[in-house]
Amino acid sequence: MKNCSSFIDSFAFDKRLAVYDIAGSVAHVKMLVKCRIIPSADGAAIIAGLAAILADVKKGKGVAAQEDIHYAIEKELIRRIGPVGGKMHTARSRNDQVALDLRMYVRDEIGNIQSLLKNIQRAIVHQAHKNIDAVMPGYTHLQPAQPVLFSQHILAYGWMFQRDCQRLDDCLKRVNILPLGSAALAGTSFPIDRRFVAKLLSFDGVSDNSMDAVSDRDFAVEFLAVAGIIAMHVSRLCEELVIWSSAEFNFVHIDDSFMSGSSIMPQKRNPDVAEIARGKTGRVYGNLMALLTLMKGIPLCYNRDMQEDKPPVFDTVDTITAVLTVVEHMIDSLKINPGHMLRATERGFLAATEVADYLAKKKMPFRQAHGLVKQIVLQCVKNNATLADLSLGDWQKYSPLIQSDIMAVIDPLRIVQTKKSEGGTSRQSVLRQLTNLKKLCR
Ligand code: ARG
Repeated sequence: MKNCSSFIDSFAFDKRLAVYDIAGSVAHVKMLVKCRIIPSADGAAIIAGLAAILADVKKGKGVAAQEDIHYAIEKELIRRIGPVGGKMHTARSRNDQVALDLRMYVRDEIGNIQSLLKNIQRAIVHQAHKNIDAVMPGYTHLQPAQPVLFSQHILAYGWMFQRDCQRLDDCLKRVNILPLGSAALAGTSFPIDRRFVAKLLSFDGVSDNSMDAVSDRDFAVEFLAVAGIIAMHVSRLCEELVIWSSAEFNFVHIDDSFMSGSSIMPQKRNPDVAEIARGKTGRVYGNLMALLTLMKGIPLCYNRDMQEDKPPVFDTVDTITAVLTVVEHMIDSLKINPGHMLRATERGFLAATEVADYLAKKKMPFRQAHGLVKQIVLQCVKNNATLADLSLGDWQKYSPLIQSDIMAVIDPLRIVQTKKSEGGTSRQSVLRQLTNLKKLCR
């Protein structure tokens, strides 16, 4: 083997950092001039050269491939403005430079993902609003439990995504710390001004320890962990859509553009988009594991292993971006089927707890009431009947405590309306949270 450059090079993937690399270099050079480390004429030539390269990069004209994006931009600069371009790297190492670039990239992507999360939240709020009164079975163990509003159910996901936004905000606090000025590992003997660079690049602070700064990828691990939680939330939502759109449930209709047919079974409409979005979760978790495993065995400071940090970060950004975008549109397209939902609440004995509470309020010990209602349900199952099929006479055979008001007690709409506790599923509680969430995702 002559050389291993194709194994060593990272240009193929880290060229994605070009704009950050240039922005970081411009700030660094401004600082070098201000601190009189390089003459201002040289600084001006370098900055003009970098601006021209940036303009080309933005037009889609990439720089020529080198070992990595940092060398590629420096080489291109020197090609354009001559040897003075070599002054750019004074008081800097690729070690603090790459840490800077990755932090700037993650910072931007945190903002992008937060706006995608807000879009999904708005789609959820919109569906909740549109279908505010639809009643459906709420489940535990995927067994019918108690009637709830569809709006309450879908809004639960809105709150999950709200916590994801908060987690990203918190992650950003640790991302947005400037590592530049740490140089290779020990800092530098040049009289640099790191706080000036931090200000130019909108960082909230500077790292405290040069050795930590060049070998820290915690910020990226945290970001991938938050992304993992986001993927988990989206996956659960997609799982609901898969279940709800099945022929057995038929609670929702997902638009054709998110479904596909089968190559053999003509009747099929498969929820492929929801399934793929659910499936993408695996690679997002995998990227987190890859980075954690990459980092676990390396001593301070920079080790070349760390070059492998970027593919998992980029892949997670691409995956999460695609998933959030497509799922937002899928939620927007949903048409819900309130009739089927309501009928399902009747089939599933969802009023059983209400009847037990009713008897307990009439002073029957709750445990005894629970046993009695269980008997009533078993009898109904045997007779292929629902609670709504029972006449007052049927009810009173079980207990004289039961009066004609039992009919209202088992009405799913009324049951929902009684759950007026804060965060509960009554219309008024749901409207309150709807208003609150709407404010948060504006
Ligand atoms: N391409 C490298 C990376 O992504 C840049 C840093 C190289 N530093 C070094 N000491 N070889 O990590």
